[in-house]
Amino acid sequence: MRKKIVAGNWKMNLDYNEGLSLFSEIVNMVKDEVTGQQQAVVCSPFIHLYSLAQLAKGHDKVAVGAQNINDHEAGAYTGETSAKMVKSTGAAYVILGHSERRQYFGEDNKLLAVKTDVALKNGLKPIFCIGETLDEREAEQHFDVIKTQLQEGVFHLSTEEFSQTVLAYEPVWAIGTGKTATAEQAQEIHAFIREQVANNYTQEVADNTTILYGGSANPKNAPELFAQPDIDGGLIGGASLKSRDFLDIVKVFN
Ligand code: 13P
Repeated sequence: MRKKIVAGNWKMNLDYNEGLSLFSEIVNMVKDEVTGQQQAVVCSPFIHLYSLAQLAKGHDKVAVGAQNINDHEAGAYTGETSAKMVKSTGAAYVILGHSERRQYFGEDNKLLAVKTDVALKNGLKPIFCIGETLDEREAEQHFDVIKTQLQEGVFHLSTEEFSQTVLAYEPVWAIGTGKTATAEQAQEIHAFIREQVANNYTQEVADNTTILYGGSANPKNAPELFAQPDIDGGLIGGASLKSRDFLDIVKVFN
């Protein structure tokens, strides 16, 4: 059985104390309310990582992740943060290929393939994001776009490496817009993604791959989305900044 994951992406929100206090609430609520085998992951800014990882210690249903790493191992890259540094905080995951990084920081599939390698080499599990823009969907290019993102971003990985990787389908037009993909639209793409994984690796690898949905997910729409056979959880932006909302989404898998 593949792992069910609900990951929060705090993006560039919350100062140090705000982050710690939100995460403390989340850890306590997970302890009290989560009865299934799902995992709650919080992807915070770098400044919070070490402290959150300390709070998460001993709680196997809670993990911490970063939102980016540099593609180099170390060196003269002022202002950047390496995979090894992130790993040393106690973080387990790193979001790679988020559409905001593709759009605002010019990250392309080639760079993301390198970041994926560096993450895995340093023991971080990538949460690799893929998804089409509104223009691409309207031009009916969404399947091609997603296939290319997978081929160029992660399909060079060995089976062993790929098995450490989580995929996240985030249609760009649904991020922060309040416009969620319908459960049918999301399921259609998730099934397509799993089929691509099966074609590139094996059906068994595909069956074990966790594929998250992201884009205006909230406690109201999560039950229908997560009931789809190929949707294994969510990558949550806005709703992950409120402990009650985030927990209610995590608890869909109870
Ligand atoms: P929202 O849930 O705010 O739409 O953000 C989704 C997202 O980008 C998660 O990575």
